[in-house]
Amino acid sequence: MANAEVFKSKITVYVVACWIVAAFGGLMFGYDIGISGGVTAMDDFLIKFFPKVHERKLHAKEDNYCKYDDQLLQLFTSSLYLAALVASFGASKACRIFGRKPTILVASLFFIGGAGFSALAEHKWMLILGRILFGIGVGFGNEAVPVFLSEIAPVQHRGAVNILFQLFVTIGILIAGVVNYFTSTLHPIGWRVSLAIAGIPGLVLFFGSMILTETPASLIERGKDTKGKAALKKIRGVDNVDDEYEEVKRACEIAKEVKQPFKKLMKRSSVPPLVIGIMLQIFQQMTGINAIMFYAPVLFQTMGFKNDASLLSAVITGTVNVASTFVSIYLVDKIGRRKLLLQACVQMFICQVSIGAILLTHLNTTGTMDKGLAVVVVVLVCLYVMCFAWSWGPLGWLIPSETFPLETRTSGFAFAVSSNMLMTFLVAQAFLSMLCHMRAFIFFFFSAWILVMGLFVVFLVPETKGVPIDSIVERVWKQHPVWKKFMDDDGPKSQEMV
Ligand code: BGC
Repeated sequence: MANAEVFKSKITVYVVACWIVAAFGGLMFGYDIGISGGVTAMDDFLIKFFPKVHERKLHAKEDNYCKYDDQLLQLFTSSLYLAALVASFGASKACRIFGRKPTILVASLFFIGGAGFSALAEHKWMLILGRILFGIGVGFGNEAVPVFLSEIAPVQHRGAVNILFQLFVTIGILIAGVVNYFTSTLHPIGWRVSLAIAGIPGLVLFFGSMILTETPASLIERGKDTKGKAALKKIRGVDNVDDEYEEVKRACEIAKEVKQPFKKLMKRSSVPPLVIGIMLQIFQQMTGINAIMFYAPVLFQTMGFKNDASLLSAVITGTVNVASTFVSIYLVDKIGRRKLLLQACVQMFICQVSIGAILLTHLNTTGTMDKGLAVVVVVLVCLYVMCFAWSWGPLGWLIPSETFPLETRTSGFAFAVSSNMLMTFLVAQAFLSMLCHMRAFIFFFFSAWILVMGLFVVFLVPETKGVPIDSIVERVWKQHPVWKKFMDDDGPKSQEMV
């Protein structure tokens, strides 16, 4: 059995450039997550597209928890994720048939188109079409980039390299917060500028992806062995890559026999990675993170901060988000995935319950909150974002990208991506209405989920630190006390050739 030590590698300038370029896919995603909340809080935008919401916002005796509750306004934020959900399945096919690199390139094109349509929108349909194009870009990018990064990373740094995707997501969210902060005073075109800037990471990704390598696994899987070996040498920076090549080749031989990966995913032996991939993404969203990411400005306004101060608070949470992701990059290959997930469950639970209790006892429907307490809430939100950023944020993407065997990797990962998109859509679409109806109890709702996900990790999430990506079946699933029971229907040799 090959192990991590025999796969020699050096970190070359070229490979680092590939990591960074690909991670721009994360920046596109993050920018979009971060931009919507600020744009939907801008008066010029509301007056043009959602005048009724604007009226309600101006109403003096407005109910704190309900002023932005509008299904169409929420559709502006959430339509992107529906489009991404559908697109991720097409993207998984593209990844398998054409490779990871062209899929990333296509993502960038959709993103540039999305930026154009939404920035120039004169009618609601243009706005929604722009969101849909963005969404397709996100679906393609989020499918291809994490798999690309996991496949080109040296095993001993796979966690850290993969987390570059999430790091760029957080940088995107932060940039969006800063951009909104400035454009909110730029009347009447601030919102247009905010949406147009989304095209920049798209352009970087488009031009950058010309220098990307294709991953060795993708090349060899498509019968291009010589190119695959050359790519492996190039990204490892050493001449002797024989052991790793053999490992990838073995995985590719199995993968090539599987003609219909989606059918193969329905087999018993695919249950473990599929359940883990889907549930980690569902749980990631049920931490309530996007209630904060999309609606931080709205949420802080609800607590009585002025327009400016609330956008500024979103910048603060964004900075905490970026900084804490570095903790994850540093720790993930040292202490492993499980410890990070579990530690975060404890910290997130405490923060959510405390925020809920403060809002419940100190924020009534019309008044504003005491300044000091509002600051305590912002600190609690930061503590919450902090631990999400070193755990469920990055690991929700990392673990599903490294736990499927090659033959079902892109199709299985599509289920993880689409589960994320579906849940993101639901949170984006429902959050403002939930806030309006559940009020402070919404924070207790999310904390109940955190308890469930903690138990899930304790019993069902395996440790994948340091295991070569193409040895996961043997070294992880077949050794796990619960999941090994699912691995008996098709061992590596007698794989179902579906
Ligand atoms: C999640 C996003 C979230 C972001 C916050 C990502 O991993 O998928 O939904 O907004 O982290 O940093």
